[in-house]
Amino acid sequence: MRALIVDPSAPAALRLAEVSEPVAGPSQVLLEVHHASLNHGDLNDARSGRVAPGAVLGSDAAGVVAQAAADGSGPAAGTRVVALAPGAFAQRSAVAVGALAEVPPSVDLAEAAALPVAGVAALRALRAAGAVLGKRVLVTGASGGVGRFAVRLAAHAGAYVIASVGSVARGEGLAEAGADEVVVGLDGLDQPVEVVLDNVGGAQLVAAWELLAPGGSLQSIGWAAGEPAVFPPYSTVGPPKSLTSFLNQGEAGGELATLVRLVAAGRLAVEVGWRGSWERAAEAAEALRGRRVRGKAVLDVRSAAG
Ligand SMILES: NC(=O)c1ccc[n+]([C@@H]2O[C@H](COP(=O)([O-])OP(=O)(O)OC[C@H]3O[C@@H](n4cnc5c(N)ncnc54)[C@H](OP(=O)(O)O)[C@@H]3O)[C@@H](O)[C@H]2O)c1
Repeated sequence: MRALIVDPSAPAALRLAEVSEPVAGPSQVLLEVHHASLNHGDLNDARSGRVAPGAVLGSDAAGVVAQAAADGSGPAAGTRVVALAPGAFAQRSAVAVGALAEVPPSVDLAEAAALPVAGVAALRALRAAGAVLGKRVLVTGASGGVGRFAVRLAAHAGAYVIASVGSVARGEGLAEAGADEVVVGLDGLDQPVEVVLDNVGGAQLVAAWELLAPGGSLQSIGWAAGEPAVFPPYSTVGPPKSLTSFLNQGEAGGELATLVRLVAAGRLAVEVGWRGSWERAAEAAEALRGRRVRGKAVLDVRSAAG
């Protein structure tokens, strides 16, 4: 079968190649992948060696179950599903039944494919921050994949949402998504916030920390800036507030089911800013790195596979 594998010498460190078919374990289904989505983390994983050269890249896939799990758990063959699992960028993928959720006919599989890493990160980070009803929640990197889901979910949960972006153009659509304020950088903010969902790191993390109210919490989801954060002396000394590291860990079937349900009910929109054949994955990667994707990048796997 064909798959997008890590190749450090290729553009964006990934290329299409022939690989062997996956073998499903007893509690895994064999998924026929129709669409996948590319994450910032995939690009980091390909370059850092966290996914080894030659291995299949990707975590986000949606498609149809080709073969049910041998132990009888999970969905039957023919069921439409979305999954957060390694080896997603392939025509077929072996997926643990706990790492997927069913997708009803009313939800487009391409949109479902955009949900896993970014949507689950936004949902889990927001949950980790505690109840946000009526609280001021700052989302940095709000124009990106995680950021746009975070804005929508925080607004849905009743927060006063401040969405921070890199330029006015990058902030388009965020007010409609539920942001009460859309700001370019953090310099203009002077009122404290109770929660920060930080996707950017570096200097913005430091600035966000300074805005955090006593008792508040900052969830460090990502570090898209790729730059160090330099805290001024004594900036971490004062009334208690917390900076919490965050990692998408463990099977995400439950959270995926929640996200799919919200999409199906029309309560969570999926913004796909780049869509094309997986043969153009390097182009998608370049757009993502160049901060030109509004929301998510979705790769069509099945159309190219025939
Ligand atoms: N901890 C976890 O489990 C977990 C899960 C998912 C994602 N992440 C991490 O969270 C971060 C966001 O992920 P994502 O999928 O939302 O990424 P994304 O779609 O690429 O969005 C990142 C956003 O960060 C902003 N940004 C600021 N400085 C940047 C820079 N120097 N380079 C690139 N972007 C910059 C951009 O907004 P502007 O263009 O408006 O400035 C961009 O929209 C990444 O670091 C990712 O690795 C972590």
